[in-house]
Amino acid sequence: MNYIFLLLTALFSITTNPGEDTRTQMDISWGADASTVSSFVMYAPEKSDWSRALRADAEGRYCAVYNNVSSKKADGTNFFEDARFFKYDLYLNGLRPKTSYKYRVYAVSAHGDTSVSDVYRFKTSGSRVWQACIISDYHCYPPLPKRIDAAMGIMDKIESRYGYDWVINLGDVCAWGGSYSFWRGMYEQRQFKDHMWGGVNGNHDNMTRNYVLTNDFFRNATSNPLNGYEGEEGVCYWFKYNDALFIMLNNENMRDSTGFSKAAAWVEKVLEANGDARYKIVCEHYQWFFGTRGETSQYGRWHEIFERYGVDLALAGNNHIYVRAHSNGVTYIQTPSSDNERGQDPIKPLEANEDKINFRWNEGPHTVGAMHMKVTPARMELMLLDREGNMIDRVVVPARKR
Ligand SMILES: [Fe+2]
Repeated sequence: MNYIFLLLTALFSITTNPGEDTRTQMDISWGADASTVSSFVMYAPEKSDWSRALRADAEGRYCAVYNNVSSKKADGTNFFEDARFFKYDLYLNGLRPKTSYKYRVYAVSAHGDTSVSDVYRFKTSGSRVWQACIISDYHCYPPLPKRIDAAMGIMDKIESRYGYDWVINLGDVCAWGGSYSFWRGMYEQRQFKDHMWGGVNGNHDNMTRNYVLTNDFFRNATSNPLNGYEGEEGVCYWFKYNDALFIMLNNENMRDSTGFSKAAAWVEKVLEANGDARYKIVCEHYQWFFGTRGETSQYGRWHEIFERYGVDLALAGNNHIYVRAHSNGVTYIQTPSSDNERGQDPIKPLEANEDKINFRWNEGPHTVGAMHMKVTPARMELMLLDREGNMIDRVVVPARKR
């Protein structure tokens, strides 16, 4: 019995994140007990037999950034996180485009026992038509498990009704990103086992219960391309999904003008280097507009750069109110919350940006909303869906002639 217990506990927080070019590259992140001496992934196309799987080894590094953080258990008791483990980042290369893959993670302990994970899945890009689910702000919190149930519930609904290849997460998936047990529990959800997730760091992901702030929480709970700017490697990053360029930002380190200038310089460089991308998409956590009355938020600092480089779509979350706006060729969308609990008060009449804001939506404090995105060479179609899978809003972003 003990042996089985060990098998179940040695590997955790397994998640697939985008490689820089998702046609052939994927990043796999996981944690393993500090007694692990080696850990690796066996992967194969979904249709192949496991006997033809390839092995890829990863180098673990000791991680204690979450250790001793004040936290809460599912039963509501207070405790300090006991989280000293090896963090693994595996940057897979040489994959086949538009192929569904399966993989298992293995860990060998100092005693020679080998632990094996469940089967995980992802799909490389390369298809002319692809689909994604977009979700944010479900603030996973073990004492209130209905939050993640609400979020996973709407994802399941969108998946069964429309299907999708991967997931875009616009931040605040954890209530306290410093609580490693929150990430660990969240990653047990099926949606993480079956899809690649490309995400941004939200303010909640960036903090402990006591407001200790660091992007190390997000960095050590994911494996992202290391192509971000100094201090943001693996947190800010860009990747290609087929012919769409995604730029992923971290609002927490661009609150002041120095932080913003660093981010802006990097964004301009990435946009310039990828001028040929059919679609240019920028994602961050903080809202473009304040949804309640429509005042300008992050739109103010970014719109000039987005317009200059022909950004097609700007995605954000945080406000818990869905806002869709259009200005000078750029479509701005911020997702609603999805946890049925931490939503906003109902929206009020617009008092600003009436010329830009096309549509707003929430369900008050008990909001559950998420999006579906379908991309073809001609256009991107985005739908806002409610918890029943009903379409609330739809927008088409046509491909530009570049
Ligand atoms: Fe939030």
